[in-house]
Amino acid sequence: MKVKVWDPLVRVLHWGLVAAIAVAWIAGETWLRTHEAAGYAALGIVAVRVVWGVVGSAHARFGDFVSRPARVWRYAVDVVRSREARHLGHNPLGGWMVLALLASVAVTGLSGWLYTTDRFWGLAWVDMLHRASAWTMVALIVLHVAGVLFTSLRHRENLVAAMLDGRKRP
Ligand code: HEM
Ligand code: HEM
Repeated sequence: MKVKVWDPLVRVLHWGLVAAIAVAWIAGETWLRTHEAAGYAALGIVAVRVVWGVVGSAHARFGDFVSRPARVWRYAVDVVRSREARHLGHNPLGGWMVLALLASVAVTGLSGWLYTTDRFWGLAWVDMLHRASAWTMVALIVLHVAGVLFTSLRHRENLVAAMLDGRKRP
């Protein structure tokens, strides 16, 4: 028996975001048109996800997974002591990771767009901001995937499969 956790939009946006970022990364400056198109797609996905975080289904809402710092800290301590509670939606650490990932994609996409405008084109700080935010995003993605694998092993459930079919055991 499994229950529905991730609605279809959450799943489509997640894997769409992964695809858009992969394409933007691979295209790079060599295929700049493709790079920009994929970057805008990623920005669009983030915008839709933010709206869905307010009006979406139960576990898609920010209110469901953004916890106070004290609770995040307690959860982190519990993880270190191998006694953290399982969560049906995002856990307290994962919830902040969601925000960090969305923010890093937004800053990367917006700084990329800025670089194409007449006013900001060629400015060193815009170029730096774009590269720095892109690499910050990569670091966050590495931590994100590590967290997903760690939590999957810890609670003996396949969280990646749950992001594909939307279901988890209750
Ligand atoms: C470009 C790389 C990635 C980005 C930007 C990204 C971003 C995100 C975001 C924003 C969420 C929150 C989902 C939501 O509530 O809408 C999420 C969740 C999730 N992602 Fe990713 N992700 C990436 C790559 C991956 C990869 C490669 C995997 C597979 C190993 C993965 C597995 C998951 C899983 C399982 C969840 C749900 C976590 C949970 O159970 O709480 N992600 N990701
Ligand atoms: C969110 C997805 C994006 C990622 C991960 C990303 C990543 C990167 C990276 C790593 C570079 C440096 C490439 C290199 O050193 O070879 C770069 C360059 C560039 N990107 Fe993006 N980018 C994204 C979105 C965008 C968008 C939306 C635009 C504009 C519409 C854009 C415009 C540019 C331009 C013009 C350059 C070359 C100029 C420079 O060096 O800053 N990017 N991008």
